[in-house]
Amino acid sequence: MEKLLIEGGHYLEGTVQVSGAKNSAVALIPAAILADSTVTIDNLPTISDVGILAELLEEIGGRTEHDGDTLTVHPEDMFAMPLPNGRVKKLRASYYMMGAMLGKFKKAVIGLPGGCNLGPRPIDQHIKGFEALGAKVTNEQGAIYLQADELIGARIYLDVVSVGATINIMLAAVRAKGRTIIENAAKEPEIIDVATLLSSMGANIKGAGTNVIRIDGVDKLDGCRHSIIPDRIEAGTYMILAAAMGKSVLVDNVIPDHVESLIAKLREMGVMIEVGDDQVFIRTQQNLNAVDVKTLVYPGFPTDLQQPFTSLLTSAEGSSMVTDTIYNARFKHIDELRRMGANIKVEGRSALINGGNRLQGAKVRASDLRAGAALVVAGLMANGITEITGVDHIDRGYANLEEKLNGLGAKTWREKLTEAEAEEVENS
Ligand code: EPU
Repeated sequence: MEKLLIEGGHYLEGTVQVSGAKNSAVALIPAAILADSTVTIDNLPTISDVGILAELLEEIGGRTEHDGDTLTVHPEDMFAMPLPNGRVKKLRASYYMMGAMLGKFKKAVIGLPGGCNLGPRPIDQHIKGFEALGAKVTNEQGAIYLQADELIGARIYLDVVSVGATINIMLAAVRAKGRTIIENAAKEPEIIDVATLLSSMGANIKGAGTNVIRIDGVDKLDGCRHSIIPDRIEAGTYMILAAAMGKSVLVDNVIPDHVESLIAKLREMGVMIEVGDDQVFIRTQQNLNAVDVKTLVYPGFPTDLQQPFTSLLTSAEGSSMVTDTIYNARFKHIDELRRMGANIKVEGRSALINGGNRLQGAKVRASDLRAGAALVVAGLMANGITEITGVDHIDRGYANLEEKLNGLGAKTWREKLTEAEAEEVENS
């Protein structure tokens, strides 16, 4: 096990390249199951979740070749192998194996997913969708069993706007008989990306990116080649750390529309931002303004940037309020920020930040992926050295992190945990 060390206080300058979107990649790889011939996915981020999903495809009889940022999937020999345990539990997005395997084989057994602990994360809307399409769904000993004689298109109204349920129902419906309509669908760019891949395979999907998606089922899907959209959350994280410590930083390979809510908030704080076609240039200002922010479904401010944004707000003079309306327990980074000297109070779904004090380097722990990103931002801003354990969480979502940070002039490196530190992490 390793820890990430950051010597804070160095100003950042230069260009950082954004990788392909994690939350697209983790859906596109299972989506390849639905094809009857080779699927090639380009611009994959180098993150651990991608490797785990490729291994899962191999477990069910697929062949995969990983070359740089390209994954080729040969789905011809895949079969409905039950996956009640093992790798499937390592990441939450393995729930996409349910929709994809149900869509292809009309059955699947998938262990209930793991992933970041952000409080209760039910999958009732996914299941409601599968059942509406005609599947029998049972939960036995921590695994979901899905079975259908045939899948028949249906009208499904999501009671909660859910990215995962929207994508999972699309996956299950593209090869169903007849028309499926998903109402109150999520509109995140990753949903459009998945619909684009499926359409290139021959699926008939209209309305992805709006709140009503219509899918006319087809009998067969062919292979295709697809390039993943840039990761708006990785881009946003670099924009936030550029706002915190950037003299002048160019965030390259970003779709500016996808980070519009963040751009608006950073400008409100007084950060200077110029927006190009696929680049965002950021120059920070002294004396940033405190602002309030509320996370919302897309195109609102993303919950996935709430944690790193909170770190930035500790540097703004005055009180800022951050409210997370998507998850009720996404505040595990706050205790760690307090260890670094931050003055933050949590009340219900809101965090009240009294900013303006310089953070101090400390030993902290990343409890989930974006908590890790928050601690990286905090470590770059702090006086002295910050040591972050729980790095495996960060590696789930940030490709080549130290390389990218050090390329901007940061000082970050990894060290092996001492035995005592490893024991402490195991017990926490
Ligand atoms: N929800 C339900 N029932 C469901 C599904 C969701 O009540 O059946 C609730 C959730 O508990 C949550 C809200 O609906 O309160 C939204 O959840 P959603 O289903 O949209 O989240 P998700 O699909 O599980 C994806 C991203 C998350 C991101 C959320 C929200 C992936 C693999 N994960 O999760 O990303 O926070 O959408 O945008 O796409 C991350 O990247 O760090 C991350 C956690």
